[in-house]
Amino acid sequence: MDFIPDYDIARKDVYRTVFCTYSSAYIVTNEYLPAAMNCMPKNCENALVVAASGDHPLFCSLSGAKNVDTFDISYNAKCMMDMKVAALNSLNYLEYTRFLTDLYNASLRITNVKHLDTVLSNLNKTERDYIYALKDYPIFARKSAPLYSMSLLKESEYYKLREHITKPYNFIMSDICKLGKKLTKSYDFMHLSNVFDYVRGADYENVILSLMEHVKPGGRIVTQFFVEGNDQIFGFYMAELVKKYKNWDFDKKVINFNEYAYFKNGICVLERSR
Ligand SMILES: C[S@@+](CC[C@H](N)C(=O)[O-])C[C@H]1O[C@@H](n2cnc3c(N)ncnc32)[C@H](O)[C@@H]1O
Repeated sequence: MDFIPDYDIARKDVYRTVFCTYSSAYIVTNEYLPAAMNCMPKNCENALVVAASGDHPLFCSLSGAKNVDTFDISYNAKCMMDMKVAALNSLNYLEYTRFLTDLYNASLRITNVKHLDTVLSNLNKTERDYIYALKDYPIFARKSAPLYSMSLLKESEYYKLREHITKPYNFIMSDICKLGKKLTKSYDFMHLSNVFDYVRGADYENVILSLMEHVKPGGRIVTQFFVEGNDQIFGFYMAELVKKYKNWDFDKKVINFNEYAYFKNGICVLERSR
């Protein structure tokens, strides 16, 4: 059954800084996505990525993944992702960049965002009604400037994607800590991007183990995290974990993906060898 959003809870929860069912969504990613996509195995049939702003699944498709499933704890992230797919199918490239820029500049109200009605007319009724009902609330307010994003789709990429992505991505609404139990497929690639940075105090081992069960031999889990603080802990933790599980190899990279920003992004690649 489809998720039925509760507008009253959403109107309160959207102001929370912690990620939750109605936490505000990113308009564009603040990551350099090609770095993670380079870690995707060749001939990727099934991929699982965090929905976030929708950029993650779009880049996954662009990099050749045939089927992309998504998950997120936030319904607003699903809405942002579905709006990007709807935009892809209803706006030209210039209109798309204008749409994202207007959302970025919209402050709290999205009423005056050009092309909003066109995009929303391509969404299902539940999402469309929800976004209109919450249009004066900061449901898409986690921001970095679209035109300065290193992961803004290029025009050629936009039109290439349009040929393949004609319907919304399959979405599992879940806290990553409970995701393993909800998966029904095996994946070649899982991109768990900047999620563990925010899952404080979780039983990382059991979370990763429950996801590992859904990775095919030769498949990879890519965990990505901001280097500050978490790097040593998470990298060390992953290395220890794979020592215990003989079918897995481990690689750790630190990529300074944005020379204009103050943070670095670390990437851990866990590969299931057999
Ligand atoms: C953690 S944020 C980081 C933003 C990211 N760097 C980007 O470029 O979009 C990415 C996504 O993870 C989701 N998220 C945060 N905590 C989560 C959790 N415990 N389970 C599932 N998703 C979560 C957020 O809702 C958000 O959409």
